[in-house]
Amino acid sequence: MGKLRIGIIGTGGRGIHCFGKSFVGPHANEVEVAALADTNPVRAQGARTELGIACDLHDSAAELASRKDLDAIVIASVDCHHEEHAILALESGKHVYIEKPLATTVEGCLRVIEAARRADKTLSMGFNLRHDPVVHKLRELVGQGVFGTIFSLQAIEHYNGGRTYHSRWNRFKSQTGGLWIHKGSHDFDVINYLMGPQTRPARVACFASVSVFRPDRLPFPLRDGVPAGPRCSVCPYAKECPDAAPATDTLLFNDQTAAVDGYHRDECMYLSDKDTHDQGIAIVEYANGATASHSEYFATPITNRRYLIEGTAAHGEGDLHGSAVHWQPRWSTDRIDYQIGPRKGGHGGSDPSIIQAFLDSIRTGRQPRATAIDGLWSVAVGVAAELSRAERRVVELSELFDPNCDLLREPRP
Ligand SMILES: NC(=O)c1ccc[n+]([C@@H]2O[C@H](COP(=O)([O-])OP(=O)(O)OC[C@H]3O[C@@H](n4cnc5c(N)ncnc54)[C@H](O)[C@@H]3O)[C@@H](O)[C@H]2O)c1
Repeated sequence: MGKLRIGIIGTGGRGIHCFGKSFVGPHANEVEVAALADTNPVRAQGARTELGIACDLHDSAAELASRKDLDAIVIASVDCHHEEHAILALESGKHVYIEKPLATTVEGCLRVIEAARRADKTLSMGFNLRHDPVVHKLRELVGQGVFGTIFSLQAIEHYNGGRTYHSRWNRFKSQTGGLWIHKGSHDFDVINYLMGPQTRPARVACFASVSVFRPDRLPFPLRDGVPAGPRCSVCPYAKECPDAAPATDTLLFNDQTAAVDGYHRDECMYLSDKDTHDQGIAIVEYANGATASHSEYFATPITNRRYLIEGTAAHGEGDLHGSAVHWQPRWSTDRIDYQIGPRKGGHGGSDPSIIQAFLDSIRTGRQPRATAIDGLWSVAVGVAAELSRAERRVVELSELFDPNCDLLREPRP
């Protein structure tokens, strides 16, 4: 088999800095980036220059998907377009890598799953956390049965990069479905992955709010008659604001690209209009009675993800940034510590691993570690969390879809 010809939809950070760079770098002998598509043609041109290649450019996903000379398509566009782009790619007979979330609604996920079943192509779901060495080790221990029956899991995320969720498009539900879907879908998937497919989430409750990134918490005093914002690059308080975004002028994001679509990445995270949250907790009950919680904190000096596992036979913990896993059997003080590493590449080594797995799944037809059905389950928990927060009630997943429907049967698309 010759080089895989791949097109990328969405020439922003993820599409180019992660996938494009990897394809023209470590995978250059097996992949040719044949085409790029973005609704912003200036960004697409910048992306091509950034990659140092001479591929075709398209200003619509449909145009790129309709090409006959592609083996696969990477979808790294804005979340609310994932469903449309995935269906276009599958219906035109391409293998697909789709960034999380699979879609921003449960109905959208089901439509993608339906298209994947019809297409009989591989769909790699972009849950790179499944490729994180710490999560991988936890999953391996779960598979060995050392926890006995898992009855509770906790996922805790601290992210000192909170700016990204309050300064860009992802602060709007219209673009993402909500932060529990856009961001939380990663962790809901890890929880589902560790619980295993024999039990599924059944109901969700959630509390979340904007506690810090709001106008009354600006981290500097205002001078009379001198308003702050609206963006760090033009804000008169930028020098005294500890949260000011560093100035960036890249081939992908600059004044020329912003002139096309008005997309800036440095909206003031305190003053920006938004319908997201900056802290919250979602709790989940599984069909077998097991419980889980996921809490996220975006106004924090630390960055880490931790997972805690409670089983009938043992307790376990995974610390992503500490690259540590430990396991302690019940009725014992003997604890086993695993130091994980070394980690190389984006997102703690999970990006190179998921890209390799995507290419392998195209060549071998082997099922990827996360499928469209996994994408659906994590989005369903996220949708239920958003609904629970809005309506202040426990949301049953069966309100959203029929968990036993034919579409979700094995083998998984
Ligand atoms: N797995 C991960 O760890 C991870 C990390 C970051 C982002 N993501 C996901 O990757 C995707 C891209 O995120 P990003 O941070 O790179 O965003 P970005 O803003 O840097 O890039 C998005 C690009 O999509 C383009 N776009 C928007 N609508 C389009 C359309 N209809 N057709 C074609 N292009 C369109 C935009 O112009 C932009 O260039 C998102 O779905 C996000 O959730 C995943």
